[in-house]
Amino acid sequence: MNSVWHERVQKIYGAAIGRPRRDLVTPALILDLDVVKSNIKHMMQRLSTMKAKLRPHIKCQKSPELALLQIEAGAIGVCTATVWEAIVMSRSGVQDVLIANQVGGRQKIRALAEAATEGHFTVAIDNGRNAQDLSDATQAADSKLDLLIEVDVGMGRGGVRSAEEAVALAQAAAKLPGLKLRGVQGYEGHCMLEPDRAVRIQKAVAAMDYLGTVIDRLAAEGFACEVVSAGGTGTYDITGNNPRVTEIQAGSYVFMDNFHGNLVPGFSRSLTVLGTVVIQHGETLVLDSGRKSVGIDFVLPTMVDYPYYQAHYFAEEHALFFVDQRCPLRLGDTVELIPGYAPTTVNLYDAYHVVEKDAVVDIWPICPRGPGHGGFLTN
Ligand SMILES: Cc1ncc(COP(=O)(O)O)c(C=O)c1O
Repeated sequence: MNSVWHERVQKIYGAAIGRPRRDLVTPALILDLDVVKSNIKHMMQRLSTMKAKLRPHIKCQKSPELALLQIEAGAIGVCTATVWEAIVMSRSGVQDVLIANQVGGRQKIRALAEAATEGHFTVAIDNGRNAQDLSDATQAADSKLDLLIEVDVGMGRGGVRSAEEAVALAQAAAKLPGLKLRGVQGYEGHCMLEPDRAVRIQKAVAAMDYLGTVIDRLAAEGFACEVVSAGGTGTYDITGNNPRVTEIQAGSYVFMDNFHGNLVPGFSRSLTVLGTVVIQHGETLVLDSGRKSVGIDFVLPTMVDYPYYQAHYFAEEHALFFVDQRCPLRLGDTVELIPGYAPTTVNLYDAYHVVEKDAVVDIWPICPRGPGHGGFLTN
């Protein structure tokens, strides 16, 4: 892919192309393309028996290259957490982008309405005032936006809290120029990490049953839902089997960090951080990859080749592990870590070192990263 972002990171990190993955300047973010492709293939194979299509959530990936790889494999578009991610994806050639969140704030709404003069965007809403602001911005920009009403199916974050609220919002949105209501989003995030699969199934089915009642109410009031967007990595094969659900928003399946762990079978770890042993005292081993290099939210990282050694502590620039005499690692050796949490790991880096058969074959940009706005802020 030839984008301005791609060219920029090629200039900075391109010298690494051709090097073995163990021989990079550390900390380095490594993406194993063979594993990524096998994860995508597995997801597409599993979904091929279900009605729902894949619309991967790219908030953890932030990679136009990864998005297009999934679309090439059959994904119908992407969903994003932020308006900036949405604009980058659209400008990178993704033709159908859902912002699976509410967009709030004058500049962000304006940026979205302006981007919609060139690309196709759908955005989640759960509030009439927000719908009015979106409509006003489309009128100013001379553009159009599609909408999904977000329904809270038990997570307690975004989303209308009842079928009555959904109907009232649909009626209000129908009167607003520039907006077209296409359906609902019901992200069952509260079920995603339930370790007991039977309980997860029960909770996810209940969430989608409730969403079904809201869909029925909307239909009865004249608002048929052509799009029903839900699901994530932990529930893709449960929610994807619901005949009303048209698309699944799984994203982490591409990486499978320690947080998502072995939640669902068939996927492997593709994302690692290469660190160097910089300090060694007896059985305390210190890597140069602290929490400014690897996400530690919720679950701690582990060493790929030594999963049985516990991480003791992650300082800003240091990762402390307690090992024993059998550990062959010595000062200067490199070792790969599986991130505790991939989204906050990826967000720390400019680029992925993309590897195939253990050698770096490409450098892919991570964009837009940080709270940065990708150069799209107007004022
Ligand atoms: C609205 C929404 N959909 C889908 C996802 C994707 O979940 P996962 O990365 O677990 O597949 C998330 C994750 O936070 C989300 O917020």
